[in-house]
Amino acid sequence: MEHIDILRAHGLFDAKVPRYTSYPPANRFENGLGDPMQKDWLKTISPDEAVSIYIHIPFCRRLCWFCACRTQGTQTLNPVEAYVDVLLQELEAYDTCLPKGLGMRRLHLGGGTPTLLTADLMTRLLDRVFERFQPVSDFEFSVEIDPTEANPKVLKVLADHNMTRASVGVQDFNNQVQTAIGREQSFEQTADVIGALRQNGVNSLNIDLLYGLPFQTNQSISDTIDRIISLRPDRLALYGYAHVPHVSKRQVMIPDETLPDPESRYKMAQLAKVRLTSHGYTPLGIDHFALPSDSLTRAWTQGTMRRNFQGYTDDPCPTLLGMGASAISQFAQGYVQNAVSTAAYTDRVRTTGLAGHKGIVLSKDDCFLAALINAIMCDGAVNIPEMARRFPDFTNDLEQIHNRLTTKFADLLIKENGVLQIKENFLAAARLIAAEIDQCRSFEHPHSLAI
Ligand SMILES: C[S@@+](CC[C@H](N)C(=O)[O-])C[C@H]1O[C@@H](n2cnc3c(N)ncnc32)[C@H](O)[C@@H]1O
Ligand code: SF4
Repeated sequence: MEHIDILRAHGLFDAKVPRYTSYPPANRFENGLGDPMQKDWLKTISPDEAVSIYIHIPFCRRLCWFCACRTQGTQTLNPVEAYVDVLLQELEAYDTCLPKGLGMRRLHLGGGTPTLLTADLMTRLLDRVFERFQPVSDFEFSVEIDPTEANPKVLKVLADHNMTRASVGVQDFNNQVQTAIGREQSFEQTADVIGALRQNGVNSLNIDLLYGLPFQTNQSISDTIDRIISLRPDRLALYGYAHVPHVSKRQVMIPDETLPDPESRYKMAQLAKVRLTSHGYTPLGIDHFALPSDSLTRAWTQGTMRRNFQGYTDDPCPTLLGMGASAISQFAQGYVQNAVSTAAYTDRVRTTGLAGHKGIVLSKDDCFLAALINAIMCDGAVNIPEMARRFPDFTNDLEQIHNRLTTKFADLLIKENGVLQIKENFLAAARLIAAEIDQCRSFEHPHSLAI
């Protein structure tokens, strides 16, 4: 049997499963588990522990139809200015709960479009962040950049604050695809912004691409990949387009019949993978690629790559502090999500300082399942004896999960020296296998295609 037939037999092309950027996934977070828990957990952070910070900017001048990110359109600066004031107030509230001069390992500005801030607003925000948190020696500062919204003055402010990585959104360069997703952006414009970033000393670049977009074909995705390779980014994320118009209303602009079917999506992803690997990129996890010199490749080689809300990371921090509407914070004890709408977020910050409104306390079961799912999603493998050592109370559960996986996915897995590994050709089934581990619980998740 061809490997695509085996994947079909396992239901890969019909399955809708979570992306497992966290475990438990965000839709298991419960209302009401927010602010008090967040304060308690912040107070347990020790002064010699560094934290990572994520700041969400939920504004865009253009609203691309494909986009499922939490953002809103604006043509004026007023709501952005007001939002930065609220962010600074939230930062103060964090500060009152944390040891003074706490170390900062990672800072990520995401959105939305962070570069929509003017140079002055960006300076105000970043100066305050750097006053409150001290960058540690391996500090990294990354920013999501839409090349159509990359004012040189703002890029300069970011560079002056030691931005180390820019994550540039491309998705696809084909004209027909761009028109169908409501996002026009030329190769030349993208190349110019990448040039400007490099001139500003940003020497690590990530590019986001999507497969499974309307009108995409093997030929169009190959052409896009070739143009991307000519820009030589250090990293690439090649995400499967999640078409969820019931959640992300603007996606109704993309008719279902313009989308490639799941098997065509799979073939596009495979084609892109072959092209990227033949040009020196290492495939990492289910949807990332990087050059051997990139820190994510090193983390993957050393088995320290982790899954988080940005996809994959080499960030070793147990604590991620989320700021801004909808931002998620991660603590050793659990997760807290800020109020999602800008109005509700603003209201919470103004009344209680912090904005957590939902969350989850990790049970021992969650920690055990999270470790297994992280291993499958990052390494495509579970080291059974190591898991047994880490979770001595779960040896029976581990044996049951092992038996369940080796029975159900016998043709996708091999076992060597106690390591249960997905065979190379079948890595696309990682989310399916993670979902099987997750089946040890019976919760409802929002679903997108597994491929
Ligand atoms: C906040 S967005 C992009 C940042 C920036 N505003 C831009 O447009 O370049 C981050 C990434 O999420 C990914 N993304 C957005 N909507 C998606 C969807 N429906 N399915 C899969 N990935 C999606 C895209 O690859 C996008 O570049
Ligand atoms: S892709 Fe970027 S610019 Fe487009 S709507 Fe999403 S966040 Fe905004």
